[in-house]
Amino acid sequence: MKRFFSILTLLIALPGVVFASGGHQPELEKANNSLADKDSLQRGAVLFSNYCMACHSVKYMRYNRIARDIGWDDDTVVAKMSKGTARVVDNVETRMMPGVGQQVLGKTPPDLSLMARLRGTDYIYSFLRGFELDETTGEWDNKLLQGTSMPHVLENMQRHFKPEDYVQSTRDIANFLEYVGEPAKLQRYDLGWKVLAFLFLLIILTYLLKKEYWRDVKH
Ligand code: HEC
Repeated sequence: MKRFFSILTLLIALPGVVFASGGHQPELEKANNSLADKDSLQRGAVLFSNYCMACHSVKYMRYNRIARDIGWDDDTVVAKMSKGTARVVDNVETRMMPGVGQQVLGKTPPDLSLMARLRGTDYIYSFLRGFELDETTGEWDNKLLQGTSMPHVLENMQRHFKPEDYVQSTRDIANFLEYVGEPAKLQRYDLGWKVLAFLFLLIILTYLLKKEYWRDVKH
């Protein structure tokens, strides 16, 4: 029995040890985003199209799915995200020609469909906000991915937006990418509340039933 418990303890402690050994990483800022905020998702989709799709795709998503999930109709999604050049059934591809990323930036920009799942929403938020001007070289670098080949594409936004609007815009983009990483989360959240409400009702009913059963029993 004692051995059983020590193995159990080990199993419970193991993930902590594995995660803790992940090397030194700068602190991530919290995105504080909300998938329930449809306006934020819509703003995020437009920002993603304007600032990111020149290089990145989210090719596991189709335009019509995005429209349905974030509250647009079919015409709106292609107008807002592709300036009318894509069809609603198309996957969300980058506008960059194949090979150009490698040639110009030295690296092909990755597809971002699963990036939020891979690295987390806070990482994306912090990565976007992590560009710092290197005083010696006069070039931008990113504190989360040093020597990155991604340019600081939000430089103008950072310079000209009010700080709180800049925060909100980067949060909207991270929010949109979290949604893209797991579209079913939106429905799951919806369903979650219903399940909880149902269970709560069930508790009350069960309690009343118990009282009813034991009413005439002396105890
Ligand atoms: C000019 C092209 C370009 C644009 C525009 C661009 N990116 Fe990138 N991005 C890249 C490249 C190239 C990489 C690969 C960087 C590397 O591995 O060094 C990258 C990598 C990334 C990564 C992965 C970072 C990691 O840790 O591996 C994320 C997340 C990302 N981009 C988000 C965005 C978002 C969000 C936008 C829009 C606001 C955007 N990018 C706009 C070129 C671009």
